[in-house]
Amino acid sequence: MRYKSQSVAYWYFAAAMVLFGLQLVFGLLSATKYLGPDPLINLLPFDVTKVIHTNLLIVWVLTGFMGATYWLVPEESRTEIHSVKLAYIQLGLWLLMGVTAVIGYLFGYGAGNKLLEQPIPHKITIVVVMLMFLYNVGMTIKKSGRFTTTEGVLLLGLGSAALLYLPALLHYSNYTVSIYYRWWTIHLWVEGVWEMIQGGFLAYLLIRLTGADREVMEKWLYVIVGLVFIAGILGTAHHYYWVGVPAYWLPIGGIFSALEPVALVGMAIYAYSALRRSGLAHPNKLALHWTLGSAVFTLFGAGLLGFAHTFPSVNKWTHGTLITAMHGHAAFYGAYAMIVLAMIVYALPSITGRKEGGSAAGYWSFWLQLGGMFGMTLSFATAGIGQVYLERILGLGYLDTQLKIQVHFLMLIATASIFTVGVVLFIYDFFRHAPRFHLEPEDDDLKDRPTGNLRAETDPVKYG
Ligand code: HEM
Ligand code: HEM
Ligand SMILES: [Fe+2]
Repeated sequence: MRYKSQSVAYWYFAAAMVLFGLQLVFGLLSATKYLGPDPLINLLPFDVTKVIHTNLLIVWVLTGFMGATYWLVPEESRTEIHSVKLAYIQLGLWLLMGVTAVIGYLFGYGAGNKLLEQPIPHKITIVVVMLMFLYNVGMTIKKSGRFTTTEGVLLLGLGSAALLYLPALLHYSNYTVSIYYRWWTIHLWVEGVWEMIQGGFLAYLLIRLTGADREVMEKWLYVIVGLVFIAGILGTAHHYYWVGVPAYWLPIGGIFSALEPVALVGMAIYAYSALRRSGLAHPNKLALHWTLGSAVFTLFGAGLLGFAHTFPSVNKWTHGTLITAMHGHAAFYGAYAMIVLAMIVYALPSITGRKEGGSAAGYWSFWLQLGGMFGMTLSFATAGIGQVYLERILGLGYLDTQLKIQVHFLMLIATASIFTVGVVLFIYDFFRHAPRFHLEPEDDDLKDRPTGNLRAETDPVKYG
C-alpha cells in the first residue's frame, strides 16, 4: 500500500465478503425449493429468497467496485483520497440501505421490478451514495491533476451506471412501458457500462501484474469501449422481442446483440497476450489467475452463452426459462464477481501483510469456485434444455415439466456445494490475516514489473 487512505478499500472488501456469503445462502435456499417439499413456504417462499439472492449479488458486487476504485484511484493519480471520512460515511449509508432492503424483502416490502425491487427510499439512498462516491473520487483526481485513461474508462462506467439507475426511479403501471425502461438500466448496466468498469480494472491489473505496456492496454480499452457502444446500446432490443413493442426490434436486437461478444473476445485476447508477454514474473500469481480467469469466463458465460439464445428464432423457445439462469450465472460470475475477487486478491498482500504468492487455500478456492460454477452452469443448461423441450415444444404443463427435470436440480445443488466450499475458503483466507495498513515507501509495482514501458508509466508530461 502506497497511500494511507487506500486502507478504506479493506472495509469495502470485508463488507463485500460477508454479503457474498449471504447471497449464497439464499441461492442454495432457492435451489432446494425446486426439489420440494418446502417446509419454509410460508416463511420464506421462492420469490423472497430469489429476490434476496439477486439483490445481495448486486449490492456486494457494487460494494466491491467501490472498494476497488478507492484502491485504484490513489495509485493511478498518486495521491490520497480526497475525504476518507466521506468514504466511510458512504459505506455506512450503503450498508444500511442494503440491510434494510433485505429485511424489507423478508416481509414482502419491495417495488417488484425484477432486479430493481428496491423501494423508493432505498432507491433515493442509492442515488445519494453514488453521488457521494463520484464526488469523492472526482475531487481526488481533480486535486492530483493526474488522470489516466484507465481511470477515465472506469469513471465513465461508474458515472454512467449511476445515471442509468435513474429510469429505475420511475414507476409505470403499463407493463410494456415498465419493462421497456427496465432494460435501460439492467441491460445497459451489464452489457454496457459495467463492462467498462470491468475493462478499467482489467487494464489496471494487467499493467501491474504483467508489466504490459500502458499505452497498448489503454488503446485496447478504447477499442472495447467503442465496441460496447456500437453493439451494446442497440443490443438492448434482444429484450424487446416479446414484450409488446413493434416487430422491427426483432432484427435490430438479433443483429446488434450478436455483435456484443466481439468486445468480449477482444478483452480475453488482450488479457492473454499481456500474460504471454509477461513471462509470469510477478509474485502475485493468484491475482493473475483471477484476472485472466475473469476475462476467459466472461467470454464463456456472457459471450458464448449469451450468443446461444440471443437470436429471436432461438429466444422464442428459451425466453425466461432456466436457459436464462444458466447464462445469468456464468456471465455475472465471470465478468463482475471474478473481477472484484481479482482486485481483492491483488490488494490483499498490501493491506494484510501476507505473502504475495497466495496461499494453498487461495488456490483451492479459485479452482473449486471455477469448477463449481462451471458445473452449476451445466446443470442449469441441461435443466433448461429439458424444460424447453417438454414445456415449450411438447406442451407439458410447467409443474409437470419441473417434476421431470428434478435430477438436474440435484446436480445443481451438488455443484453449488462445491462452489460454496470455494467461496467459504476465499472468505476464510480473506479474514485469516488481520488488516495491517503499512505504507511501502518504495514503488513496489514498478519494482516488480518484469517488463514493460516504464517511461510511459512515469512520464509526467503525458498525464500532467
Ligand atoms: C457480462 C455480461 C452479461 C451479463 C452479466 C448478463 C446477465 C444477464 C442476466 C442476469 C439476464 C437475465 C435478466 C432478466 O431476465 O432480468 C440476461 C438475459 C439475457 N442475456 Fe445476458 N448478460 C451479459 C451479456 C450478454 C451478451 C453478450 C448477450 C448476447 C450475445 C446476452 C444475451 C442475453 C439474452 C438474449 C437474455 C434474455 C434471456 C431471456 O430471453 O430470458 N447477454 N443476461
Ligand atoms: C450457491 C450458489 C448458488 C445457487 C445454489 C444459486 C441458485 C439460484 C437459483 C435457484 C436461482 C433462481 C433461478 C430461477 O429463477 O429459476 C438463482 C438466480 C440467480 N442467481 Fe444464483 N445461485 C448461486 C450463486 C450465484 C452467483 C455466485 C451468482 C452471480 C455471481 C448468481 C446469480 C444469479 C442471478 C443473476 C440470478 C437471476 C437469474 C434470472 O432470473 O434470470 N447466483 N440462483
Ligand atoms: Fe441484454
